[in-house]
Amino acid sequence: MTMEKQIFIFDTTLRDGEQVPGCKLNTKEKLRLALQLEELGVDVIEAGFPISSPGDFESVTEISKIIRNATVCGLTRAVQKDIEVAGEALKYAKKPRIHTGIGTSDFHIKSKFNTTREEILRRAVQAVKWARNYTDDVEFFAEDAGRTDNDYLAQVVEAVIAAGATVVNIPDTTGYCLPSQYGEKMAYLMQHVSNIDRAILSCHCHNDLGMATANSIAGVISGARQIECTINGLGERAGNTSLEEVVMVLKQHKDLGLYTNIQTQLLNPISRLVSETMRVPVQPNKAIVGANAFSHSSGIHQDGFLKNAQTYEIISPEEVGAEGSKIVLTARSGRSALAYRFQKLGYDFTRDDIDVLYENFLQVADRQKEVEEEHLNEMAKAYKESTVQAQ
Ligand code: KIV
Ligand code: ZN
Repeated sequence: MTMEKQIFIFDTTLRDGEQVPGCKLNTKEKLRLALQLEELGVDVIEAGFPISSPGDFESVTEISKIIRNATVCGLTRAVQKDIEVAGEALKYAKKPRIHTGIGTSDFHIKSKFNTTREEILRRAVQAVKWARNYTDDVEFFAEDAGRTDNDYLAQVVEAVIAAGATVVNIPDTTGYCLPSQYGEKMAYLMQHVSNIDRAILSCHCHNDLGMATANSIAGVISGARQIECTINGLGERAGNTSLEEVVMVLKQHKDLGLYTNIQTQLLNPISRLVSETMRVPVQPNKAIVGANAFSHSSGIHQDGFLKNAQTYEIISPEEVGAEGSKIVLTARSGRSALAYRFQKLGYDFTRDDIDVLYENFLQVADRQKEVEEEHLNEMAKAYKESTVQAQ
């Protein structure tokens, strides 16, 4: 029997998620979300980038004071002052982590730093050593690892682990990789980094091509043990990996032998809280937490769903804290859905009644985008009056 492995959930809603224009949070808002993230069961809360502003320094400090079970993490560049400030902001944390790093792709090395691979490797090692002065839990990120040459990336990973990194983050910063490429990158590192048993690898995937979730899953299948993600997939540009998506993929695909400690029934409530606090609506068709994630609207689907919910639902709404499945009435709906909705409103119509009512329904449905409760009540009233007159 193979043992199930835990995948650690590193939530970066308060750092990468908060980088979305207009999503800036104050300390009070960050504290409220941090407490809910802890309740949700995330393993790591990336609370902010302490050197970036006095407000973020304060947020990381205050979050460090109240979080009891999760690791609290602060981001830094591979710069001594950043690391000192992060160490200071995290000093009250029960489990502090410093997340430091530098760009490793040739784009970053040449265009951003105008330097050499050797110099980047030296700075990476130095940053990890500085960070280890403040905590034993140091995560290194190789920015733009998605476009970094695998052989050089393996050298960097080996060197930072030797310097004391306990987690190594392999970000697909630009969301460029295909799932197969990202998975192969992780597998390459698992095979070619001689001291890989002393650290874990982490997935941090952006969604520029809509592949962040698929890439993160490919990463953990290939041996990574942590996924960095955000509620509702918020993050720079097209966003990060959605926490709710990767958690439910692992829960649905038990055959992968991977699990998380997330309390999935809290996924919808926290999605709504993040959406309200950050003032970013959730797209209706968003997996797991979108308003339509459990709505059935076409006649064929509704009929199958009403016979057995599993025909058209792979997750039950209760499992993810959603309101419940909905049978939405539109011009594409069928008789069974109409009968079901009338029954829910307390009407006891026969099949023959429904046949007549369905013709009226289609006329209303062609005029309306969605047939609502009030329309059904009007239709029922008119139908009852017409049958009384006919007697
Ligand atoms: O996308 C990225 O590379 C990042 C790093 C700072 C971890 O967010
Ligand atoms: Zn990122």
